[in-house]
Amino acid sequence: MKKLLFLFLLCTALHSLADDVIAGRVKAETACALCHGHNGVAALPNAPHLAGQQAIYVSEQLRNYRSGKRQNEVMNMIAKPLTDLEIAQLAAWFSAIKVTAEVP
Ligand code: HEC
Repeated sequence: MKKLLFLFLLCTALHSLADDVIAGRVKAETACALCHGHNGVAALPNAPHLAGQQAIYVSEQLRNYRSGKRQNEVMNMIAKPLTDLEIAQLAAWFSAIKVTAEVP
């Protein structure tokens, strides 16, 4: 019985993470891709890459932009209407993108 409960909880957790990644991808495509790129690799020279970034870091920065603790004219405006759920979904999406680094 305990094993079944564990499996059920595991499946629920995995399922909701996959849901978050998909929802975050959809949101990012319309709201973020112009500057941060379709795959999280920045499309503008002054925008940071978000692909593979830690989810905790991404959500913390978005909450800081939303509250005004971190100041940036563009990102303060973009983060203002985001809900906690949307922030979690966006963070799940960008952190799910796989990146590799090549040392020169
Ligand atoms: C109009 C261009 C533009 C759009 C659209 C945009 N961003 Fe940004 N974003 C920027 C710029 C420029 C910065 C750097 C700001 C700074 O210096 O603090 C930034 C910074 C960030 C950072 C901080 C990254 C770091 O390394 O600290 C995060 C996280 C972020 N954006 C997420 C998003 C998300 C999520 C969306 C969509 C909901 C989005 N941005 C939409 C231009 C944009």
